Amino acid sequence: MSHVSFEDRTQALLKSLRDAGTYKELRHISGPMGATVTLEDRGEVICLCSNNYLGLSNHPEVVQAAHDGLKQYAAGTASVRFICGTFAFHREVEETIAEFTATEAALTYVSCWCANEALIGTVVGRNDAIFSDELNHASIIDGCRLSRPLERMVYAHRDGADLETKLKANMDADARWVITDGVFSMEGAVANLAELVDLCKRYDARLIVDDSHGVGVLGRTGRGTPEHCDVLGQVDVITGTLGKALGGAAGGYVAGSRDLIDLLVQRSRPSLFSNALPPTVACSAKRAIELVQRDTVLVDRLRANIARIRTGLADLGFECQESPTAIIPIMIGDEAEAIRKSERLLELGVWVVAFGYPVVPKGKARLRVQVSAALTDEQVDQVLDAFGGV
Ligand SMILES: Cc1ncc(COP(=O)(O)O)c(C=O)c1O
Repeated sequence: MSHVSFEDRTQALLKSLRDAGTYKELRHISGPMGATVTLEDRGEVICLCSNNYLGLSNHPEVVQAAHDGLKQYAAGTASVRFICGTFAFHREVEETIAEFTATEAALTYVSCWCANEALIGTVVGRNDAIFSDELNHASIIDGCRLSRPLERMVYAHRDGADLETKLKANMDADARWVITDGVFSMEGAVANLAELVDLCKRYDARLIVDDSHGVGVLGRTGRGTPEHCDVLGQVDVITGTLGKALGGAAGGYVAGSRDLIDLLVQRSRPSLFSNALPPTVACSAKRAIELVQRDTVLVDRLRANIARIRTGLADLGFECQESPTAIIPIMIGDEAEAIRKSERLLELGVWVVAFGYPVVPKGKARLRVQVSAALTDEQVDQVLDAFGGV
């Protein structure tokens, strides 16, 4: 049998990506994340591709909180949580997260990716069954791969009837775990949490919601998809990121019952064997949540910007599905064409990223517009002018 070396196959893959026009160039930003960013090769452009939904990444109070954290606790924890890595700022940010998500307790991780892997890998037992929405985020998929349950099932996207059939067929499992994104990151669609809560009650299942794109965005007071769906306090487990609306630095969390969090402290491998959240990140995230709790100014501003951009794009003839989220996918189909369109928008001063395979299925390439509360009315006008130009 002839062998292809790692070097040869890597070069062949990179060449094929370049030839197909789907090679991802990393762009370098030389200043802070905001409504606009400064790209090293292009100068200042409006940023419609970050998850800085509430504009908190560069909010003076959030930045100050990080400075204060650095000053009081220095650079990092230099340890995992259970040895000597648990600091007062961990307890404080976790209490704030628990209160905000209407849960008993929370545990932070260095990312939501870690949080999902930690959670699913720890709680799902050998005689359990997992039911995962087909469009769930990659971190949920990998988390499911880390567990070894009796059954690992994928139900059709947002399809309660399909989920119900699968739940019914697995009533002999010790525990049933239904897992969904709150807001699906490539579609901007919202999970029907009221239906899922109901199904979980009827079939004695537990519901896990990854609200990374919902928290800070949805709900009257920004408490996320559970608030939007009127089931706040009824979701068993919520995971989320601190790297998007809630300050944008990094970090993730699991929030749920006190027993669940105790179990994770005892058993979850990413917290047992990996360093804890650093003080800058924990302190800035805590302040970001406090700003959302203080009033609804930013959430209201985000909602107004979403409405203006959605309506404006629809008026220009772009097909945008109805959704309350800050994610507006514009379907293009062909990946190279999507990349060409995003290049054209960049020339017009608006940064929108094109997504193709493997992030989305082949043939379903799209431009993904992400709206921020930081955008001024003038910047929204500029965005719509640029889209008019493509
Ligand atoms: C739904 C969802 N979950 C988890 C993550 C991972 O979050 P983090 O960047 O904190 O690891 C993302 C990030 O893109 C996401 O969209």
